[in-house]
Amino acid sequence: MQIEFTATDPTRDRQGCVVVGIQAPKELSAAAVRIDEASQGALTAALRSGDFKAEPGRTLLLRNLAGVAAERVLLVGCGPAAKLDAAAWRQTVTQLARVLKELGSTSAALYLPEVEVRERGLDWRVQQAVQIIGDGWYRFTGFKSDKEPAPKLKKICLPKAFLADPRVDCEGAARIGSALAQGMALARDLGNLPGNVCTPAYLASEARRLGRSAGLTVKVLGEAEMKRLGMGALLSVSKGSREEAKLITMQYKGGPSGAKPVVLVGKGITFDSGGISIKPAAAMDEMKYDMCGAASVFGTLLAAAQLKLPVNVTGVVPASENLPDGSASKPGDIVTTLSGKSVEILNTDAEGRLILCDALTYSARFKPDVVIDIATLTGACIVALGNHASGLMSNDDDLADALLSAGIRAHDRAWRLPLWPEYQEQIKSPFADMANVGGREAGTITAGCFLAKFTGAFRWAHLDIAGTAWVSGKEKSATGRPVPLLLQYLVDRAHAA
Ligand code: BES
Ligand code: MN
Ligand code: ZN
Repeated sequence: MQIEFTATDPTRDRQGCVVVGIQAPKELSAAAVRIDEASQGALTAALRSGDFKAEPGRTLLLRNLAGVAAERVLLVGCGPAAKLDAAAWRQTVTQLARVLKELGSTSAALYLPEVEVRERGLDWRVQQAVQIIGDGWYRFTGFKSDKEPAPKLKKICLPKAFLADPRVDCEGAARIGSALAQGMALARDLGNLPGNVCTPAYLASEARRLGRSAGLTVKVLGEAEMKRLGMGALLSVSKGSREEAKLITMQYKGGPSGAKPVVLVGKGITFDSGGISIKPAAAMDEMKYDMCGAASVFGTLLAAAQLKLPVNVTGVVPASENLPDGSASKPGDIVTTLSGKSVEILNTDAEGRLILCDALTYSARFKPDVVIDIATLTGACIVALGNHASGLMSNDDDLADALLSAGIRAHDRAWRLPLWPEYQEQIKSPFADMANVGGREAGTITAGCFLAKFTGAFRWAHLDIAGTAWVSGKEKSATGRPVPLLLQYLVDRAHAA
């Protein structure tokens, strides 16, 4: 999608479609007033007739209005001003994107962001509109013979007047929105790809490709090197697979050369069958999404590099399959992690923490400012938070708060869970330094407690994205979350620096 700040007058713009907001019950936005005057009350008449109610997400397409140069005027309902908060506005734009996709015009002049949203500025409205419409254009059609034709709309023109206020950077906001949509698209593509295509080796080659296109330094370790380093936990997961595990690192160096990096560690299980502790067959296909943590690292790095954010970011992706086999790990097996600590594997389906613990220990070599791991780690997190919030755990209150507020701003929210020492009791083992599972209770937290044992050396946060990284059901798909949260965190850091 092409974005320009070229719209100048809603009655004279020659774009195929002019999009204006209407608030309930009958409050016209500034652009709507201009069109209403020029067309001798066409909009007021539409409202009076009852053809259009200004409820959130409702739209009405008017064609060939007298006094209006554009062929189409699209009215978008925003509901009553008092109720137009971030969530309602996002729903409105999501609905608008669906309508724009079906439209015959190739460009649209988008005046909608002039409508005020509670506690959100114009730059936020612009960023969200560009992101939501861009993400709405996402398609995953590579494996279909019948490809739906792509939507006609190719260009969004935003009002030039949005650039008038020097205190808000709408151009920057649009750039962020557009980079985000692209980062999310990459994350969604990787998540949607089937396990027979998206293997650990595939992720490694994608990393190299991203490295070339975005200017990242990429390094890939194979199993021999991991063995030499002593990554016994990571290798215990890939033992049962014929695909070689990979440890991928990608360095984006946009900040000062001495500045400590943000390290993003993404779980990259390209298929999780559970291993010997095999999962039930129902919906097991969805476990191809078990590399969405890794995918969010790819997507965030792409967006950060595209924006040339002045921060240093290192992505670390442990990638493996988790399959049953004659050589697979068995319940009761004890392995030694890179940190030297031993783990009793009580359940081979708790494999995410096994690959992550070695990747976290490895992360220390980058002398990180903070380490954030992102993982589809526990079904328990879906039970606790559904698909509205990612689970957040951290050993540092400032880092946790920064991530929570980035999530609110990006509307990609997280919710913090405690890592109190009491929970550590649940992962004690009589045979090893710890067990890899801690029973049914507080499953998300005990997984976090396990990871915490490998993060003593740095400020660390863990995002459990089991519920947020995809939607199940008929329209099942990777969502691209939490790329918006992570990118917002990096943008906030860049501003603070
Ligand atoms: N990848 C799963 C977690 C998961 C489950 C993500 C459902 C998305 C949807 C993870 O590897 C796993 O299997 N976790 C186990 C942990 C248990 C054995 C302690 C789980 O959640 O059941
Ligand atoms: Mn598992
Ligand atoms: Zn898993």
